[in-house]
Amino acid sequence: MSDFIIYIVDDEETIRSGIAVVLEPEYTVYTYSTAEAALEAMDSVCPDLVLLDIGLPGMDGIAALKAIKESRPEVMVMMITAYEDVNSVISAMKTGAYDYVIKPIQMDRLELSIGNALESIKLKKELNSLQEQYLEENMPFFIGKSDVIQDVMEFVKLIAKSPDTPVLILGETGTGKELIAKTVHFRSPNFKGPLVTMNCASLPGELIESELFGYEKGAFTGATPGGKKGLIEEAANGTLFLDEVGDLSLTAQAKLLRFLEEGEFYRVGGTRLHKVETRVVSATNRDLKKMIVQGKFRKDLFYRLGVVTVEVPSLNRRTSDIEHLAMYFLQRYSAKFNRTLTRISSDALDALKAYDWTGNIRELKNVIERAVLIGRGPELTTDDLGLCRVVQNNTETSAGLPQISSDGIDLHGVMQDIEAFYLKTALDMAGGNESAAARLLRMNHHTYRYKLRKLHETGE
Ligand SMILES: Nc1ncnc2c1ncn2[C@@H]1O[C@H](COP(=O)(O)OP(=O)(O)OP(=O)(O)O)[C@@H](O)[C@H]1O
Ligand SMILES: [Mg+2]
Repeated sequence: MSDFIIYIVDDEETIRSGIAVVLEPEYTVYTYSTAEAALEAMDSVCPDLVLLDIGLPGMDGIAALKAIKESRPEVMVMMITAYEDVNSVISAMKTGAYDYVIKPIQMDRLELSIGNALESIKLKKELNSLQEQYLEENMPFFIGKSDVIQDVMEFVKLIAKSPDTPVLILGETGTGKELIAKTVHFRSPNFKGPLVTMNCASLPGELIESELFGYEKGAFTGATPGGKKGLIEEAANGTLFLDEVGDLSLTAQAKLLRFLEEGEFYRVGGTRLHKVETRVVSATNRDLKKMIVQGKFRKDLFYRLGVVTVEVPSLNRRTSDIEHLAMYFLQRYSAKFNRTLTRISSDALDALKAYDWTGNIRELKNVIERAVLIGRGPELTTDDLGLCRVVQNNTETSAGLPQISSDGIDLHGVMQDIEAFYLKTALDMAGGNESAAARLLRMNHHTYRYKLRKLHETGE
């Protein structure tokens, strides 16, 4: 016997028992004489399939079908009709009925149709459990109970289902944009296809094009002789994640737009059109609307990338998540570094909640990682966090800066220390991404790289 559950809803007792007798040896069957009774029962035992009479007393079959499809769209419904009432049948099929049978019921025809319906349910269930397994293996946990982030996640799961809709993810640095891009991929029907990521900020303009679109034989000096597939081709039937999409050059933007509109593109130096199906998910922490006004980002591309836009709220807007996130990172790093830290003191928790998280979750994660390393445990304290130095001794001012001693002070050295501190902290916050770190410091990225190199040279 299979574990499928079937409801039979018909006001005629002979029909109910006639069908039940045939199905019972194979399936778990429940019978109801009204739609109302069946709908109520669904709250306790949800069926896989409902055989639903159209002409019922009280709520009729079509209205019941609508109610089922609204509350439990995954339940399959097969209509039973007394005569071939074309209009009702058409309306039922439009509302999402799987099939229909006409009374007097031919049992072999009904059994065949049920067999097909249940086979497709079985496949769907198998696919769902495979997808859950993929999610478990590939997705880091997504922590967040606040209403704002719950709403975002509901929305993300919903849009993930349409496999080719472009999604643009906006939000400050470290808010979890990449994690959301992964969620879109692994919760979409393309989950078994590849998830290919390109960081548009880490490559110079000319290279981005050949990386993205590939190139043909002899396209430029230094190119691999046989030509090369681009990332779009690598992402076929999966997801292409364009991270930091605000950094794309205008030429690359034009080509990308064409690809999004037509689904086709030329490799660099090529004349043959390539067609690829993939979903494009993009993300940026830059203000694209401002960039449009400045002529740095194409307006048409903005709308094309953002057919669906997800705005990830900053951590400061969801302080109620801080505790969960901090505990999650505490457990992770405790296990990783073989520490026994299991709690966060209430003062430390208050400090975490009061802090201004400009680097968002990434910054919180880094703070906890460092605290676990230096903490002596079992409880993580405010001191371990090192969030704000409240130092009031002789060697430092109340702002945490060194005092001028009677010998004076090496102001240049102090300034260099401060600069070094910010250069490194910004890099930490940006997860090692130098362009993003430069943006955090409102600095040109060439200047940032130059300063960072100098810092390394002086051995800091
Ligand atoms: N809700 C969350 N639960 C658990 N971990 C999270 C969550 N959101 C983000 N993280 C973690 O925080 C870090 C930063 O997230 P992510 O890289 O997705 O941010 P981002 O928005 O892409 O940042 P950037 O703009 O700097 O690229 C990652 O290590 C990620 O796993
Ligand atoms: Mg990112």
